[in-house]
Amino acid sequence: NRAGRWRNGGVIVAVDGPAASGKGTLARRIAAHFGLAYLDTGKIYRAVGLRVLRDRGDPDDLAAALAAARKLDPAALDDPALGGDDAASAASRVAAMGPVRDALLAFQQDFAAAPPGGASGAVLDGRDIGTVVCPGAGIKLFVVADIAVRAGRRHKELLDRGKPSIYSRVLQELTDRDDRDRNRSAAPLIAARDAIALDTSAMTPDEVFDAALNIIQSRIAGS
Ligand code: C5P
Repeated sequence: NRAGRWRNGGVIVAVDGPAASGKGTLARRIAAHFGLAYLDTGKIYRAVGLRVLRDRGDPDDLAAALAAARKLDPAALDDPALGGDDAASAASRVAAMGPVRDALLAFQQDFAAAPPGGASGAVLDGRDIGTVVCPGAGIKLFVVADIAVRAGRRHKELLDRGKPSIYSRVLQELTDRDDRDRNRSAAPLIAARDAIALDTSAMTPDEVFDAALNIIQSRIAGS
């Protein structure tokens, strides 16, 4: 049962949703608040996509993507280049292939089962945490927001970081990536049946965090 998961120290919080929905910010804050380890699983797919690009391969090529996934070095997850659009687009291409996803599953499940630093549990964010990676997670959040809101946030974030950005391009990039993530046959982006949806379109990051804390606390109380 859920209470058992909290008491046994193996709490797992799954935070899924489309790109720029606010799930990363939320997941990081939940982890800090409860002293849990945090894994941004998007970085894993970005690192694989970037590896293929750097080897001058095609991210849609199964053999190239699978080779990169199998030799993924966890140190590559700290590469600042993972934040770029090239890495994002390549990530969603390699991520569409089932064998690539399978090759990356154990790393994510090991992190959840034995969180680093002796943490009593873990928060993982991604697209398929609640459905595939950690289907038994005690808390599952599915974070959504209108596409225009998400594009606006990403655009502002880029400008704030001093990066050039064109709103219409950002909107197109997110739309393309959403389509690929939702319509692939391998672990598509979809809410788990027991996930709680959180629409952040009209919310500030603080409001999103408060809403998530309420959900988590009522889950703990009710389990
Ligand atoms: O979350 P982020 O935008 O960094 O993810 C980049 C891409 O990696 C996504 O568009 C998606 O295709 C893929 N991904 C995935 N499953 C996850 C996390 C990310 O397919 N759990």
